[in-house]
Amino acid sequence: MTVNAATKMRKAPLSSGERVAVLGQGTWGLAERPTQRHEEIAALRVGLDLGMTLIDTAEMYADGGAERLVGEALAGRRDEAFIVTKVLPSNVERHRTIESCEASLRRLNTDRIDLYLLHWREPVTPLDEMLTALERLVQAGKIRHWGVSNFDVIDLEELASLPEASAVQTDQVLYNLARRGIEYDLLPWCREHHLPVMAYSPIEQGRLLMRHVLSRVAVRREATAPQVALAWVLRHPNVIAIPKASHISHVKQNRAALDVHLTAEDLAELDRAFPPPVHKVPLEII
Ligand SMILES: NC(=O)c1ccc[n+]([C@@H]2O[C@H](COP(=O)([O-])OP(=O)(O)OC[C@H]3O[C@@H](n4cnc5c(N)ncnc54)[C@H](OP(=O)(O)O)[C@@H]3O)[C@@H](O)[C@H]2O)c1
Repeated sequence: MTVNAATKMRKAPLSSGERVAVLGQGTWGLAERPTQRHEEIAALRVGLDLGMTLIDTAEMYADGGAERLVGEALAGRRDEAFIVTKVLPSNVERHRTIESCEASLRRLNTDRIDLYLLHWREPVTPLDEMLTALERLVQAGKIRHWGVSNFDVIDLEELASLPEASAVQTDQVLYNLARRGIEYDLLPWCREHHLPVMAYSPIEQGRLLMRHVLSRVAVRREATAPQVALAWVLRHPNVIAIPKASHISHVKQNRAALDVHLTAEDLAELDRAFPPPVHKVPLEII
């Protein structure tokens, strides 16, 4: 299926009510090969043209290089994008958080981060201290919102018990056909608490494309296997997907996944190949 210019980008509200594109762009793995840089930047820009304005990156990716590449791709177009970046847990404490955030801002070549996520949780620093550090960044105008990543239900429960909880915007977690554990408890928890989920590795870093069942469903929908994988993740109204694509053709293909509508027959066939969880599965992490 090719991009249909008439299909508008679907949006979903974050906890704040601000609406963001349900299909964004990941950046893990970008900025690692200088010979690819030109095409990677072009791919992000094509994604922006197509409304995939939510761009997910992290201080960790390519050791800051991915943020730099995003900054370059957004030159002259900053206001079109919703930038999500992540801070390492070891950098979330009183002074280091400000330094980390300012370094991200410099690399991204911007004066504000739209959504700053705690990349994962480490037991060393208490959660309330981490949230206080993130709130200080909001007050300083360096970030507009904060959220978390790789938080399982037990972590979300603890977060919900803290006074800062109402400000959390999302939990970014691993979710795709081959990683359905969150359907058992985390997705229902987030639905109940009106917390949108951001699904990372929505096509399992490309590995899902080797499964024949996706191609079979794709043929019926006149689509491609990655489009089926993305349409499947995006069937939930409160889930945002952030596939990474360093090739323009892949970005265009991914954008067109919004036009793929899976039928009950398709979903049943996918369920047989990738059964939904019947008990608690600890949150998986890539
Ligand atoms: N919070 C966290 O801990 C965490 C962890 C992992 C990932 N993430 C975020 O989530 C983003 C996405 O996850 P991911 O990068 O791990 O995996 P992914 O998006 O599931 O898969 C990326 C791979 O799929 C390929 N691909 C994408 N679209 C394609 C298409 N239409 N046809 C064929 N191949 C296609 C890409 O190829 P090309 O690059 O060659 O186009 C790349 O090799 C990351 O980039 C990152 O921003 C967050």
